[in-house]
Amino acid sequence: MTIAPEQRTAAAPSAASLSTAGWTDARLIMALEEVVEVELNRHLKVAKEWMPHEYVPWSLGRDFDGVLGGEAWSLEQSKVTPLGRIALVVNLLTEDNLPSYHHEIATMFGREGAWGTWVHRWTAEEGRHGIAIRDYLLATRAVDPVELERARMTHMAEGFESDNAHSMLHSVAYVAFQELATRISHRNTGHFSGDPICDQLLAKIANDENLHMVFYRNLLKAALEIAPDQAMRAVADVVIDFRMPGHGMPGFERSAAQLAIGGVYNLRIHHDDVLQPVLRHLKVMEIGGLGPAGLQAQQELGVFLDALDAQATKFDERQAALLARRAANAAKK
Ligand SMILES: [Fe+2]
Ligand SMILES: [Fe+2]
Repeated sequence: MTIAPEQRTAAAPSAASLSTAGWTDARLIMALEEVVEVELNRHLKVAKEWMPHEYVPWSLGRDFDGVLGGEAWSLEQSKVTPLGRIALVVNLLTEDNLPSYHHEIATMFGREGAWGTWVHRWTAEEGRHGIAIRDYLLATRAVDPVELERARMTHMAEGFESDNAHSMLHSVAYVAFQELATRISHRNTGHFSGDPICDQLLAKIANDENLHMVFYRNLLKAALEIAPDQAMRAVADVVIDFRMPGHGMPGFERSAAQLAIGGVYNLRIHHDDVLQPVLRHLKVMEIGGLGPAGLQAQQELGVFLDALDAQATKFDERQAALLARRAANAAKK
């Protein structure tokens, strides 16, 4: 939805009118503006400037074939692991869709006041992630540049539509989990890339994503205090229906399956390293004093998390068996 300017400047609603009517998105955006300002100032204090170009080994770069008549890309030039190649492409294409993400959050949160300052600052920080990863991939010849460019065109031409555009609270809840998911994905990609330079770059990017998560998580905390029942519903819905932002990219299912087995991102990681840290920090399962709708959402969330944990345990067992088979096959050769 679009927040019309007149709604942004309307007088704050009285507590009495809210207790019965519930919170509209426009009212929530106004009510949270002060929190956004505090969190924005805190973010600007802790976010240190860094230079993406310092993380790219330019001395390894050389001309490609085509216009400049250099050397064509071939697989043996790539020094990152096969798993690292898949993960780097997924992460880069996810970052590449920033124009669509910007559109979605600017439409939801607006471009004025503290919200607007955050939206633009966040976009600027996200912008360097795609730049830095692409520079690294091209300078080191880590992946096929033609395939990469074609995948970028296909992916960006599709655009990205938020699953949560219908609700401000769902949008805030989603980004709190999604920023942490992105952080973990970058960090694990670096870890499995086989290149310490790549690992160093992705650790730096993961640090940005962590600060984004903290911003949205603190905002979600305030939302749970202001509108506990509605915020609880939003958290439950978002956790239950969670999809990674890059789900629409070419070959996503296949890549995601390989990343799961390889340990870059899977159900266990999603449950233990993404959902639980945010939920525990916000004490979501311990929040009391909820109305019937909030209680219902909290219970649904609890049931879902137990089922997810059980599913993750089954995945762990399948993964261990598959890796053992692979190791045995490798030993035979
Ligand atoms: Fe990013
Ligand atoms: Fe981020």
